Amino acid sequence: MPLRPVRIYGDPVLREKSREVREFDASLGSLVADLYDTMAAYSGVGLAANQVGVAQRVFVVDVPYPDGTRDRFAVVNPVLDQRSGKEKSEEGCLSMPGILADVDRAKRVRLRAFDEHGQPFERVVEGYVARAIQHETDHLDGVLFTDRLGPLKRQFLRRELDALARGEVPEDYHPGRGEGVI
Ligand code: NI
Repeated sequence: MPLRPVRIYGDPVLREKSREVREFDASLGSLVADLYDTMAAYSGVGLAANQVGVAQRVFVVDVPYPDGTRDRFAVVNPVLDQRSGKEKSEEGCLSMPGILADVDRAKRVRLRAFDEHGQPFERVVEGYVARAIQHETDHLDGVLFTDRLGPLKRQFLRRELDALARGEVPEDYHPGRGEGVI
């Protein structure tokens, strides 16, 4: 399966509100397969379709647990609700290489969605999976994690974000260096 280049901060597709998926067809299947492969190549924990230029409500996650198991699945047309608790933890994003910041997220959330074959599912998730799902669902609405920071922290990151938007990606950024960013 081909890798699809990850779009970087400043690319307008990252600010688009993605469209609902209506057809669970072969092109959705190959999109999901490419998202898995691209996420793995960048060592990411999650990847939304608009991060590879496709503004559809689709993402994949691959969350590692300390015991060595992983939680890897595709999500189509997600709805999040029943948020509870609050947790602050560090996040990065494959579309914002080099940027890391502590972000507040709900600790626990209910996810209702479809898999890539059109089967509906529901899960209540917490911890890092819940964080990844909230981060990716934000992507589908054109929201980036830096939007969720306070004004001071955003101001602090302004120069680095502006540099990314000008196309100045850090020299050491290449597939395989994502190191667990969402
Ligand atoms: Ni991201």
